[in-house]
Amino acid sequence: MGTMLVTGGAGFIGSNFVRMVRERDLAEVVVLDTLTYAGNLANLDGCDAEFVRGSVTDAALVDELVGGCDTVVHFAAESHNDNSLRDPSPFVTTNVVGTFTLLEAVRRHGTRLHHISTDEVFGDLPVEGEEKFTETTPYNPSSPYSATKAGSDHLVRAWVRSFGVNATISNCSNNYGPYQHIEKFIPRQITNILDGRPAKLYGTGAQVRDWIHVDDHNDAVLAILERGRAGETYNIGAGLEKTSNKQVIEMICEIMGGSFEHVADRPGHDQRYAMDAAKLTAELGWAPRYTAGLRDGLEKTIAWYRDNEAWWRGAKEGVEKRYAESGQ
Ligand code: NAD
Ligand code: TYD
Repeated sequence: MGTMLVTGGAGFIGSNFVRMVRERDLAEVVVLDTLTYAGNLANLDGCDAEFVRGSVTDAALVDELVGGCDTVVHFAAESHNDNSLRDPSPFVTTNVVGTFTLLEAVRRHGTRLHHISTDEVFGDLPVEGEEKFTETTPYNPSSPYSATKAGSDHLVRAWVRSFGVNATISNCSNNYGPYQHIEKFIPRQITNILDGRPAKLYGTGAQVRDWIHVDDHNDAVLAILERGRAGETYNIGAGLEKTSNKQVIEMICEIMGGSFEHVADRPGHDQRYAMDAAKLTAELGWAPRYTAGLRDGLEKTIAWYRDNEAWWRGAKEGVEKRYAESGQ
């Protein structure tokens, strides 16, 4: 794949992706990341990749970097729903304007782009029921985060259709695994219990997410880069057994020996996400590796956070202070 520009490569999914690409020696990698609170250079420790600190909204920098690479994989985003409810502004700037900036550069240089997106663009499904999102489900985002991701997807589709840009899109369900910021659901609970605090469940905890291990997500991204059809969108989801937030928290408490409490619910809380990944499987032969169930993946993830306290400790107090301000 020649030289790959990975935006947001110092974040959770992006850094796991860079490590995978370098370990398999699939491409030379240049990471473009502005290192927000969510970006961490330590995530790339031991990865043989070039690092450039800068924003995807910096048109001159983006043009220069895109001009020097063969493929762009676009992970950079503001990624946390709760933050988007507190201050949507950086979400619009990075997710919408940043994607626009990248699209203009790949248009000028004729560079292949893969855009990373989320299942949240489709809105939500009733908790009861088995319906899943497909690639043709109409967009219906609920939060500022999902609305800006939906906006970025629409821009990519328009640039494909109007300007012939060579791009693909993937929409993936909730990821978990190592290097995930501790503001997110699973690592927040693991680090709460390691700290002797109760885990925190929003509202009743009846909501359902379609959990996927980050390596399964990144395997799918590589399959799309290697074999995906130009202009296409692919849904990514592991299709594990339906598990509510309450059941996930109970599993974590059981494995670690902790307790949980109910806290204030998230306004506009999406009820259920579920992805139909049949197109990805049928066309590209992708299948998840973490098939032993969520409990198995959680045990490995808990072990990682236990062994890597130095990685998360510095962020913990600030994260919990912000949540406490909204009763969470
Ligand atoms: P993350 O918040 O852990 O990482 C985002 C990275 O982007 C950080 O390193 C941050 O510094 C960087 N960044 C932010 N603004 C930037 C800017 N203006 N210029 C350059 N870099 C910038 O997020 P993540 O969970 O790794 O998510 C990565 C991508 O995957 C996002 O596009 C997200 O929407 C998508 N996604 C995430 C999930 C999930 O469950 N986490 C699921 C589906 C899709
Ligand atoms: P999150 O990791 O923020 O992902 P998303 O909002 O993209 O789905 O949250 C996952 C689910 O967990 C979501 O339904 C909100 C819930 N949640 C809690 O119950 N407690 C928490 O402390 C957090 C952060 C999330």
